[in-house]
Amino acid sequence: MKVILLNGSRREQGCTYTALTEVAKPLQQSGIDTEIIHAVPTDEVVATVAEKLKTADGLVLGSPVYWASPSGEMVTFMDKLAAAAGAYLPHKVGAAVTSARRAGTTATLDVLNKYLQYHQMIIASSNYWNMVHGNTPAEVQQDKEGLQIMHVLGQNMAWILKCIEAGKKNGIAAPKSEPKVMTNFIR
Ligand SMILES: Cc1cc2nc3c(=O)[nH]c(=O)nc-3n(C[C@H](O)[C@H](O)[C@H](O)COP(=O)(O)O)c2cc1C
Repeated sequence: MKVILLNGSRREQGCTYTALTEVAKPLQQSGIDTEIIHAVPTDEVVATVAEKLKTADGLVLGSPVYWASPSGEMVTFMDKLAAAAGAYLPHKVGAAVTSARRAGTTATLDVLNKYLQYHQMIIASSNYWNMVHGNTPAEVQQDKEGLQIMHVLGQNMAWILKCIEAGKKNGIAAPKSEPKVMTNFIR
């Protein structure tokens, strides 16, 4: 099994990356492969991630808070990825995490979670909302509660992935996706 973790920061190895690394550790300890990808919103990187999502079992969206929202880079990336790979996401396991100096975390998580919810993903949770605080990786390392949140999230995600795998082996298939009804509020 494999989980893709997207880092939507301009900084390839900053605070968001630090948080994602903490989510990845318990996944790896459970025998699940992980790959942290810098989500630069070029068509090339989007296509690479889309290809990987065909076979991946889980997806973690990570973004710093920029102006009380996800980074513009992450929103652009996800808008493109939803078009390119939305069909590969239903009934896979998803989670969203964020990093901030201080505020805007819950609004950021709300935006990121919408991509997971629309695509019928099974959303893993932790023992708090999935955020770390800091302006540098060293500061994030001091946020012991934030690190625990990421760790517990990774553990819970691993458990859900194994439950789904066990279910499949025992004949419990995911529901068949229905054709989408879109009424645009008019007709
Ligand atoms: C353009 C920009 C806007 C930011 N806006 C906020 C904000 O609204 N609230 C906040 O708490 N931190 C804000 N920050 C700080 C970052 O969220 C924080 O440093 C984060 O941990 C950086 O993660 P990264 O190292 O993965 O980029 C902002 C940073 C930048 C560069």
